[in-house]
Amino acid sequence: METNCSNLMPLSSDFAEKERSICIFGTGDFGRSLGFKLLQCGFSVIYGSRNPNSATLLLPKGVQALSHTEAAEKSSVILLAVHRDHYSFLTKITDVLEGKILVDVSNNLKINQYSESNAEYLAQTVPGAKVVKAFNTVSAWALQTGTLDASRQVFVCSDDREAKGTVIDIVCAMGLSPQDQGSLVAAKDIENYPLQLFPMWRLPMYVCAGLTVFVFLYCFLTDVIYSAVKEGKDISFRISISIPNKVFPIVSLLLLGLTYLPGVIAAILQLYRGTKYRRFPDWLDRWMLCRKQLGLVALSYAFLHAIYTLVIPIRYYVRYRTSNSIITQIRNNDTSAFVNMYAWRTDSYIAMGILGFFFYVLLGITSLPSVSNAINWREFRFVQSKLGYLTLLLCTGHALIFGWDRFMYFSRFRWYLPPAYTLSLVVPCIVLILKLILITPCIDKRITQIRQGWEKSSKVQTGTKFANGDFTMECNI
Ligand SMILES: Cc1cc2nc3c(=O)[nH]c(=O)nc-3n(C[C@H](O)[C@H](O)[C@H](O)COP(=O)(O)OP(=O)(O)OC[C@H]3O[C@@H](n4cnc5c(N)ncnc54)[C@H](O)[C@@H]3O)c2cc1C
Ligand SMILES: NC(=O)c1ccc[n+]([C@@H]2O[C@H](COP(=O)([O-])OP(=O)(O)OC[C@H]3O[C@@H](n4cnc5c(N)ncnc54)[C@H](OP(=O)(O)O)[C@@H]3O)[C@@H](O)[C@H]2O)c1
Ligand code: HEM
Repeated sequence: METNCSNLMPLSSDFAEKERSICIFGTGDFGRSLGFKLLQCGFSVIYGSRNPNSATLLLPKGVQALSHTEAAEKSSVILLAVHRDHYSFLTKITDVLEGKILVDVSNNLKINQYSESNAEYLAQTVPGAKVVKAFNTVSAWALQTGTLDASRQVFVCSDDREAKGTVIDIVCAMGLSPQDQGSLVAAKDIENYPLQLFPMWRLPMYVCAGLTVFVFLYCFLTDVIYSAVKEGKDISFRISISIPNKVFPIVSLLLLGLTYLPGVIAAILQLYRGTKYRRFPDWLDRWMLCRKQLGLVALSYAFLHAIYTLVIPIRYYVRYRTSNSIITQIRNNDTSAFVNMYAWRTDSYIAMGILGFFFYVLLGITSLPSVSNAINWREFRFVQSKLGYLTLLLCTGHALIFGWDRFMYFSRFRWYLPPAYTLSLVVPCIVLILKLILITPCIDKRITQIRQGWEKSSKVQTGTKFANGDFTMECNI
């Protein structure tokens, strides 16, 4: 839960009394960076070190370096910038730490490295202290350079509410964004957080990479290899623009379909079960949770398609074909007739592509935290759900009209394989047809009832109560 700094209570009186002085144990990289930032924000900083005299040389001007015991006596808040392996030294000074706020900033090298979190271990080591977990997601480098854009969030948790409030005050005073994560049990997740590498992006990236390789090979086989083997023509130059300009839009449209497919499956499942108070299967849960990332990867491919399309007129191959066709017509004293239907077709598919791209970008813009924070949930759902389906419809229409009836003529198949554009249409068409069925009044009414808490088995109206974890709705982060 994000904590609004402007709504916070003033610094607790005990804390204010100690004249905003903060003690930091450890004069290493992180301890120094924290001290530097705290000094900038008007706090006085006292370091507790094993070697106070030699440590002073490396510390920012205006700080004191004392022994651990002396430093701890001077402040009610102690930031422990020491690795977990060294916490044992604290057992010798437990009396001076009694009742103090001890902030665990530590991280581990591996996810779930220890059975208990470092903060819980610290609480066991110094039972008289009020242990708070915080600051572990901020890097020493970012604190020193001030480039905190990506790491401004500070997750805070503790079993002691007052101690947590004091640490949140300090976080706010440092210009960072505290995120209250509840009790110390949350420390394990908070410690695992910085060790995760794009957890929500992994599945969409794998899906995207797999589809890209598959569609590329499909186009390469049906274009370049087929022409070489069957017609003896070398058209390998197509690898640089023509084939990518098939791969990117086809994969983009497929991914867009895959973004909206889980919502449709979820609705069918809820209809079948007659309740929303039952967990979705894990695979569907995971799929629903990475829709934002799937959508954004799809958008990036649509951008590439738009850029590749821009260069079509300046390509040597295109200019050669156009001038050749004109010269042939002049030579033959011939003029190809203007076909109204072709004009309609090209204009319509390009117009649909442009409009589809416009709404696609709009979806991307509303997923930016700064934009989504400025609109309410209903507005966000309207854009993401309603305009999302409109985008899918326009982009599917664009590809359908572009390809027209080519998929119906077997003569257009190469080695029994249909034209590449048909690959992009399968998933979006399934999603659109299912959605069309789901929005028919009688089915839509039942889905709405189920979402409002109605259950088939008990026929009990349960209002707006949500069973924990029954439905995973991803928030835009
Ligand atoms: C460029 C781009 C950016 C995107 N950015 C985001 C983003 O920032 N955040 C994000 O979440 N998605 C994002 N998406 C993905 C997608 O737009 C959204 O997930 C969208 O809300 C899906 O709409 P939906 O109608 O399929 O699903 P939903 O509206 O989520 O509904 C899916 C199913 O969930 C169930 N359901 C819905 N409401 C309730 C309820 N109140 N109670 C119980 N069950 C319910 C129903 O079964 C419903 O059919 C993005 C997509 C794209 C293309
Ligand atoms: N570096 C980062 O960007 C970063 C970010 C988030 C969290 N953290 C966490 O912050 C903590 C410190 O990290 P760091 O990068 O500053 O490490 P570091 O540079 O190795 O410094 C650790 C400090 O701990 C003290 N220390 C070492 N051995 C000790 C012992 N046996 N007993 C008591 N104190 C001892 C030392 O200070 P004295 O010599 O003064 O005693 C030392 O300078 C770690 O838990 C780390 O996970 C670091
Ligand atoms: C700026 C907007 C867009 C323009 C101007 C545009 C234009 C084009 C053009 C000119 C083609 C034919 C390419 C060729 O002849 O090889 C094409 C094909 C295609 N476009 Fe778009 N497009 C746009 C946006 C989109 C979007 C948003 C999607 C959906 C993801 C999309 C999906 C497709 C698909 C699937 C094809 C067929 C690819 C093939 O098999 O050759 N387009 N588009």
